[in-house]
Amino acid sequence: MNNNLWWKKSVIYQIYPRSFADSNGDGIGDLNGITEHLDYLKELGVDVIWLSPVYQSPNDDNGYDISDYQAIMNEFGTMEDFDRMLSEMHKRGLKLVMDLVVNHTSDEHRWFVESRKSKNNPYRDYYIWKDAKDGKEPNNWGSSFGGSAWQYDEETEMYYLHCFSPKQPDLNWENETVRKEVFDMMTWWCEKGVDGFRMDVISMISKDPAYPDGEVVNGLYGNKDPYVCNGPRVHEYLQEMNQKVLSKYDLVTVGETAGVTIEEAKKYANLDGRELNMVFQFEHMDIAAGEHGKWTTDRIPMKKLREVLNKWQEELEGVAWNSLYWDNHDQPRAVSRFGNDGPMYREVSAKMIATCLHMMKGTPYIYQGEEIGMTNAYFKNIEDYRDIESINAFYEYTENGIMNEEDMLDAIRAISRDNARTPMQWDDSANAGFTTGTPWIKVNPNYLMINAKQAMEDPDSIFYYYQKLIRLRKEQEIIVEGVFKGLLNDDENIYAYQRTLGDKKLVVACNFSDREVACDLFEQQEGEELISNYHFHKEGVLKPYEARVVLYENV
Ligand code: GLC
Ligand code: CA
Repeated sequence: MNNNLWWKKSVIYQIYPRSFADSNGDGIGDLNGITEHLDYLKELGVDVIWLSPVYQSPNDDNGYDISDYQAIMNEFGTMEDFDRMLSEMHKRGLKLVMDLVVNHTSDEHRWFVESRKSKNNPYRDYYIWKDAKDGKEPNNWGSSFGGSAWQYDEETEMYYLHCFSPKQPDLNWENETVRKEVFDMMTWWCEKGVDGFRMDVISMISKDPAYPDGEVVNGLYGNKDPYVCNGPRVHEYLQEMNQKVLSKYDLVTVGETAGVTIEEAKKYANLDGRELNMVFQFEHMDIAAGEHGKWTTDRIPMKKLREVLNKWQEELEGVAWNSLYWDNHDQPRAVSRFGNDGPMYREVSAKMIATCLHMMKGTPYIYQGEEIGMTNAYFKNIEDYRDIESINAFYEYTENGIMNEEDMLDAIRAISRDNARTPMQWDDSANAGFTTGTPWIKVNPNYLMINAKQAMEDPDSIFYYYQKLIRLRKEQEIIVEGVFKGLLNDDENIYAYQRTLGDKKLVVACNFSDREVACDLFEQQEGEELISNYHFHKEGVLKPYEARVVLYENV
């Protein structure tokens, strides 16, 4: 095993290219836009950039439906633009992680165009085709984006499986040739010099061969997840991928693993390096989910949040590596969800949640705009939303009487993926400096106050606070390696923990409430404060959303 595991010490920044920076005024972010802003990311201090998909795509799901894995989406630029971007990144010591979407392709991918032509087409078996059962779908599974997970195809009078939209047919990983195609494609990108992969819904590549009906939710469709997540051959496939591709290069790999448990994560992200380096688990994202799935405005209670975060920290210790994240392109804005995005506490609470995450054990991810405290969009009308998941859910839920329009819109305002997808707010000029044209999705009107330019000019900004958190990770080995233990385990407002390494101890306390709360963690001993979001403390308490990190020596 490689002892110099650079990704353990790295901070990864996620870019959603469509919404990052538009260089040519067509309203859509692009690769040249990214290249133009690399110095900004260098200034922030991140080590690795993960790009959401930039491949050729009809954009049914904004690039997560790929029609050519070895070509760049026209709207994003050309392969020359890509090569230039990569070399500009490497020049600055930044690494590049590509999104790898191989659970499914676009229905416009050449493989699927062939596959649907006839039952004996050489590509037929690249996808999952089933006969009708009693004149209906092969089973009752619902797709993650609404409707059935099966699409009837007239040409051959059979159904194909699509866990997401009908334009995202699932690949058949049982087919060795499919695996070979995927591994060859990955090798091609590795040879180009990319530094890693974020693997889209990689926990779903092996399906239960019995294809049983799922438990019916909302009276509409059956839940497919137990039969498609962490399936019987998933670890075998990833070990094969590791042997044939990953182990040959110096990469970082992170699996997006819907439905992952601790036990499964220990296999996916084992430190023995047989599969991936780390996984994205979803438990802290799903806490508030309830009878209407993710569609709720409920806040996440501290007790549950602590339980989940501590469990992942403590149980992977020494066995597997954690990824740390509050948000990404599929989640609402972190400060709106876990902090407080009102004018009074936005800055201080954004710094608090950042502290909480960056002092934990694992590799932290920053999602574009998080470093300046961008907030949810709170669009007024359903017409303002662009996301296929939100739009489909809105109509499916309201038309079937599952939720009324008002409640559904409230839930979408709180949870929709579009909250993360509004354009990056660069400055206070028109369209937040994102584009000179008309942006593909509305800019959050608060860009006049919240933007990167303003943040760069304010030494006390959230941006510089993140910069300091990243620097501390480089300076203090305890932040990378220290063993985690939860503290104040009954507190309703404070999330606290310690990290220990040798004779050092790091104590972290974060007040998640807007009230002053008693806290005696720092009273016993004299230590060195590494970072805090308040300049002055009050003895025996944490102020609203206060975060403190204190290092103790010789303990
Ligand atoms: C992953 C992606 C999400 C996409 C889905 C289907 O969850 O993060 O954006 O819609 O997979 O590819
Ligand atoms: Ca553009």
